[in-house]
Amino acid sequence: MASCGVLLYVLGVCVFAGKAHCFVELVCDNQSSGQFDHQSMLNCVIIPTQGTEDVNIQVVFWRNTKIKDPVLVFNSNEIKPKSGYKFAESSWNKTNMNVSLLITSTKVENEGEYTCYVITDSGEARSKTRLSVTAKYDEPKVTLIKKIDIPNADKALICTASGGYPLGQIRWFDNANTEWTKGAKLKVKKMDNGLLELSSKLPLWPASTFPEYTCVVYNSSGQKEHESVIKLDAPDDAKESPTQEYIYEVSDSKASANTSSIVAPILVIGSLIVGLLLALLIYRRRANQVRRPSATPFLDPHMKSPTEDPDV
Ligand SMILES: *[C@@H]1O[C@H](CO)[C@@H](O)[C@H](O)[C@H]1NC(C)=O
Ligand SMILES: *[C@@H]1O[C@H](CO)[C@@H](O)[C@H](O)[C@H]1NC(C)=O
Ligand SMILES: *[C@@H]1O[C@H](CO)[C@@H](O)[C@H](O)[C@H]1NC(C)=O
Ligand SMILES: *[C@@H]1O[C@H](CO)[C@@H](O)[C@H](O)[C@H]1NC(C)=O
Repeated sequence: MASCGVLLYVLGVCVFAGKAHCFVELVCDNQSSGQFDHQSMLNCVIIPTQGTEDVNIQVVFWRNTKIKDPVLVFNSNEIKPKSGYKFAESSWNKTNMNVSLLITSTKVENEGEYTCYVITDSGEARSKTRLSVTAKYDEPKVTLIKKIDIPNADKALICTASGGYPLGQIRWFDNANTEWTKGAKLKVKKMDNGLLELSSKLPLWPASTFPEYTCVVYNSSGQKEHESVIKLDAPDDAKESPTQEYIYEVSDSKASANTSSIVAPILVIGSLIVGLLLALLIYRRRANQVRRPSATPFLDPHMKSPTEDPDV
């Protein structure tokens, strides 16, 4: 019986109990691709061979090789589908033996190998086909974070793109289009629906930080899907600026800019007042010294008239 099975497999496509010859072939696309949440089709058609006409379909079985029970069965003119599966063509006849399988809303778990097995009154046949599932990543979000666990880098950019499948790629470029991906670390998370969330962390080094970075998301075949730009508020004179430690935080740097625009006038006015007071003091002291050389220099000339002076 085992040898019988092996023989069946080797012959592969066409065996019909009770008949010496096989007059049908089942021709399927090797591979099809389905989009997540959209309809997918696994294309298979029965082709009569050796001049056969008048082929009648008796049984059609569709199986996902990961699942024990067939996902769709046609037998004795009755269709037994699992929910979400149906035949692409609703009725067959001698010229239309398209037994393609439709998956109405494709999920990640639908990915894999399928077998189709048919029995006709002119022979039986089987074939395999593969479904791959794709989903486009969402628009990525780029955020700047402070306080990171990488030595010498106190800030990092994080780019997160979710809802894609299969595994894609995130790459980083600066405003001069130089790539920085090698310094970044990619994390991949599987979402509840089987789709993936990519998250790439790029540490920023104080000596080589650029004013603008672009995060680019590629699908698994290396095609660009999205890009997102983040601008770091870094003026050319950042080194002299007292607000340097905040240059990446837009809100913080605005706050510091406001503070310095208030602080600067206060400093100027303050030093003017101090200078004026000093000048006044020195002037008064000199005047006192000229009038009364014996006067204690530390006494405020305002407080005493010459008549109240204890020295007199
Ligand atoms: C499909 O499979 C057949 C048989 O294995 C092979 O000859 C053919 O190159 C495949 N076609 C594609 C597009 O992979
Ligand atoms: C089978 O039917 C579907 C739905 O009408 C069609 O898209 C597909 O091209 C057909 N396949 C063949 C091999 O004719
Ligand atoms: C066979 O079915 C196809 C589509 O279902 C139809 O267009 C065609 O007329 C039918 N042919 C016969 C001979 O019934
Ligand atoms: C990647 O994107 C290209 C262009 O949009 C598309 O043709 C291709 O099918 C996609 N590949 C995957 C695996 O999503």
